[in-house]
Amino acid sequence: SHRVQDRRRYDAAGVDARVEARVAAGRNGGFENTPDSDPDLPGNHVWGRGIADRMVASELGARLVADARVADEAALDVVVARGVAAAAGWQALGADERARILVRAGEKLEERRAELLEVMGSECGKTLDQGDPEVSEAIDFANYYAMLGQQLDQLDGARFTPPTLTAVIPPWNFPVAIPAGGTLAALAAGSAVIIKPATNSARSGAVMVEALWDAGVPRDVLQLVQFGDRALGSGLVADPRIDRLILTGAYETAVSFRELRPELPILAETSGKNAIIVTPNADLDLAARDVVQSAFGHAGQKCSAASLVILVGSVASSKRFRGQLLDAARSLKVGTPEHLDTQMGTIITAPGGKLLRGLTTLGEGERWLIEPRPLASESPLARDANGDTKLWSPGVREGVRRGSEYHLTEYFGPILGVMTAETLDEAIDMVNEIDYGLTSGLHSLDRDELARWLDRIQAGNLYVNRGITGAIVRRQSFGGWKKSAIGAGTKAGGPSYLFGLGSWEDAPVAA
Ligand code: ALA
Repeated sequence: SHRVQDRRRYDAAGVDARVEARVAAGRNGGFENTPDSDPDLPGNHVWGRGIADRMVASELGARLVADARVADEAALDVVVARGVAAAAGWQALGADERARILVRAGEKLEERRAELLEVMGSECGKTLDQGDPEVSEAIDFANYYAMLGQQLDQLDGARFTPPTLTAVIPPWNFPVAIPAGGTLAALAAGSAVIIKPATNSARSGAVMVEALWDAGVPRDVLQLVQFGDRALGSGLVADPRIDRLILTGAYETAVSFRELRPELPILAETSGKNAIIVTPNADLDLAARDVVQSAFGHAGQKCSAASLVILVGSVASSKRFRGQLLDAARSLKVGTPEHLDTQMGTIITAPGGKLLRGLTTLGEGERWLIEPRPLASESPLARDANGDTKLWSPGVREGVRRGSEYHLTEYFGPILGVMTAETLDEAIDMVNEIDYGLTSGLHSLDRDELARWLDRIQAGNLYVNRGITGAIVRRQSFGGWKKSAIGAGTKAGGPSYLFGLGSWEDAPVAA
């Protein structure tokens, strides 16, 4: 796969030192307000096309690709009108030509791999081992959707009508791959796109968009906006000229958009509360490793992360398994991403609210096996804008009870809860009573157990004897059910995603 090849090429290129220096330099080097915004637009608040033409040197000498101007209402109106006007030309280009541009987009993303790693590291605390496959995933999306887009024109007996203008609203936790995936899918389908990257990862989204522009995607076909004001996000979605929404974010956000415009087709990937079940028939060494990676990779800030491990039967009392799990969690090198040996990076902002509660309080009957702690660090990347630390060590709690807050809540941080079950069926019940159904894992070498689990488990992405994060484009498309998806519920990196973007009618039968 791309991923494996890229890793090899990347190691061979020896870009580590370069990336290290850039990540270290990147902090707050990003934003500057410049008065000379796009002259065609009202006000000077637009972060639309032409950004790449107006690069300003950051305080640290690293290249800056975007400034921090944000769109206001009048500007948004212009951006939407431009997108609508540009869509017809993009459709007229034809699937083959669009595919050529998208394949080139993959090449441009590859060229910018080091830069993307830098920006993701400085902006979102992405460690190298997490950011590198993420860039590969974005490239995979480009090639895969380019290929599928060509198929849309070739299906016999059916006619595909693409949306005119798709709004893509991605999250900060995969600041390159998720925005790229939604954008590339919509472009491949023949739609114009307005993307609004998450505020916490605005630069990562901007570098990705710039790569697509470089590849030949016209700037009116793909426009980038940023808002200082939440209401404008709703304003974008509420605009009747937007006829598709691709959203990745919290379940509540997706619901609020659906309520805002019930008639708007939405492809939304939302929250998860995911578990790995470990049975006595598992390879326990492997299970310990996979649980720790799935729970603490990117500090647990993945919708796909393992937040629970459910130990079945004798595994619950296995000292060896417990020892390995806790050793592995304790030995994780927690730090900032400019240090290339960092295995667990920062939390996106100093934790508050639900996450802080998850890191600091226990439910009834629970106890810390490893208590999470805020860490001091010299690195400026360890602190948020208020100077509070974003660096926390991982936490493992045991004694999580069925139906408790911890059992059922998504925390989106570096916490793992241990539950125990007498039987595999009981463990499956514990998973299925969670409202979400995104990823799920089983560690067992027993075929009957596997069959039982496959038959009963309620989740969109199932993983056997491996970690439960890191879905691979085309090989295992990604998406959930229950409260983990809204709308079409189709899976990113799979065919239905693209086919679900437009509308279909039967072609007239030839006389
Ligand atoms: N697609 C991401 C993963 O599989 C969320 O981990």
